[in-house]
Amino acid sequence: MSRKFENKVVIVTGGTSGIGLAAAKAFSAEGASVFITGRRKEVLDAAVADIGGRITGVQADMSKLADIDRLYDAVQQKHSQIDVVFANAGGGEMVPLGAITEEHYTRTFDTNVKGTLFTVQKALPLLRDGGSIILTSSTTSISGTPAFSVYSATKAAVRNFARNWILDLKDRHIRVNAISPGVTDTAGLDDLFGNGATAENTRNYLAGLIPAGRIGKPEEIAKAVLFLASDDASFVNGVELFVDGGQVQI
Ligand SMILES: NC(=O)c1ccc[n+]([C@@H]2O[C@H](COP(=O)([O-])OP(=O)(O)OC[C@H]3O[C@@H](n4cnc5c(N)ncnc54)[C@H](OP(=O)(O)O)[C@@H]3O)[C@@H](O)[C@H]2O)c1
Repeated sequence: MSRKFENKVVIVTGGTSGIGLAAAKAFSAEGASVFITGRRKEVLDAAVADIGGRITGVQADMSKLADIDRLYDAVQQKHSQIDVVFANAGGGEMVPLGAITEEHYTRTFDTNVKGTLFTVQKALPLLRDGGSIILTSSTTSISGTPAFSVYSATKAAVRNFARNWILDLKDRHIRVNAISPGVTDTAGLDDLFGNGATAENTRNYLAGLIPAGRIGKPEEIAKAVLFLASDDASFVNGVELFVDGGQVQI
């Protein structure tokens, strides 16, 4: 049986953990040649070993333009074009208004907004006409969370990139969509809440707010990413696809 991404070249930034790792595994299982990035070498090496198949790991900080150039140089050494870019690297910390520092602002915007922007822009010379771009936004793009304003603002910005880039890329028939996960069980979530009883209470509280009655799994987000990347979504363009158990639909 033919696989959906056979002979396709897929970029997954932040592909060493959580949502990115689940997506990289799913693309690889569907036959793609996958390039993943992450800043930590040992985590990158472990992810490459875990994913297997036609996988290449490039150690890169996506907020640094020189690192993004190195990523696409590595792609160009093996392939003449890219089919899918999943610009997923990102994260944030909880800091309430009143305690926000310039450093917090710069770090969050550089990773989530600057990184996403230049990951996509620098991919364009290699991205084939008719290709697909998926940007990781978040339910926080349209909802408020205490102490999460800077992160949420970055995700609203990312969502709006998709609205505008479909116009800039119209003539090339490149689709751009945003995926907005709700609370998803990843290392990134652990970093946010920590471990222990308080963290467990927070998780349970959040699960109770979600109509599906639980937080999401990275594999569930990955399935929606593969849908947006595939020809099954050939007329889906510029949307924000919420994969959140219904959290922001009520
Ligand atoms: N988990 C959730 O509840 C949730 C909800 C909505 C949206 N999201 C979004 O989903 C995306 C993935 O998050 P996750 O929960 O899967 O987190 P995660 O498990 O912490 O994974 C984050 C990945 O991004 C990489 N990364 C972070 N900053 C990077 C940078 N500057 N350059 C290159 N790689 C970078 C990390 O590796 P290194 O640290 O080694 O660089 C790791 O591979 C993020 O954009 C996040 O904002 C998550």
